[in-house]
Amino acid sequence: MANALRALYSEHRSIAAVLHGMQYLVREQRSRDRSVDPRVFRAMLYYLDVFAEREHHPKEEDFLFPALRRRSPEAVAVLDELGREHEHGERSIRELEQALLRYEEGGEREFLVFAAAVERYVGHYFEHMRKEEQLVMPLAEKTLTAADWSAIEDAFASHRDPLDGAPTGDDYDALFTRIVNLAPAPIGFGPAVAGGDRSAPPRRGRPASGFRKRRAR
Ligand SMILES: [Fe+2]
Ligand SMILES: [Fe+2]
Repeated sequence: MANALRALYSEHRSIAAVLHGMQYLVREQRSRDRSVDPRVFRAMLYYLDVFAEREHHPKEEDFLFPALRRRSPEAVAVLDELGREHEHGERSIRELEQALLRYEEGGEREFLVFAAAVERYVGHYFEHMRKEEQLVMPLAEKTLTAADWSAIEDAFASHRDPLDGAPTGDDYDALFTRIVNLAPAPIGFGPAVAGGDRSAPPRRGRPASGFRKRRAR
């Protein structure tokens, strides 16, 4: 498998870990009445904003998808669909941030709206990645030439977010580590969630799948 494709799969795994973590914590708070430190959600949203929106999507949209359009006419319809979803991604993240802000400022009565927004966002994102992994990436692996992959890898290496001061690879690792350190078990190493179910013992142990590879710094 080409290195560029391997990198995209790996980025999907990181994004999926954060999405699963966010969904888990929201469900935990909703079903068990345990409050989660909002800083965890903020760190997760920031990660999705800078890593998924500004780093990952442009690599697909600007480099992989155009190459696949040239090689595989059958991919055009799904690439159009995924392109529209990429365009919509920025707005979706802003809506989620807005819902989180309302929850932080408005308190519990705003939580269900935030929880619903998280469920919607996570569901759409997983469906987006499913289409990429089941339809687009296998087609790319089958139809792109060695020269195509070489050009894509060069482009990935020189890819930089157009915004000044955008994070780099080490910054993303640090952000991911921050999430692991803030989030309560079993998602991360952070303090146990607090709230209505105080009789339950804090759960300890290793972070959940997807977060295990990153150790707290
Ligand atoms: Fe994508
Ligand atoms: Fe993707």
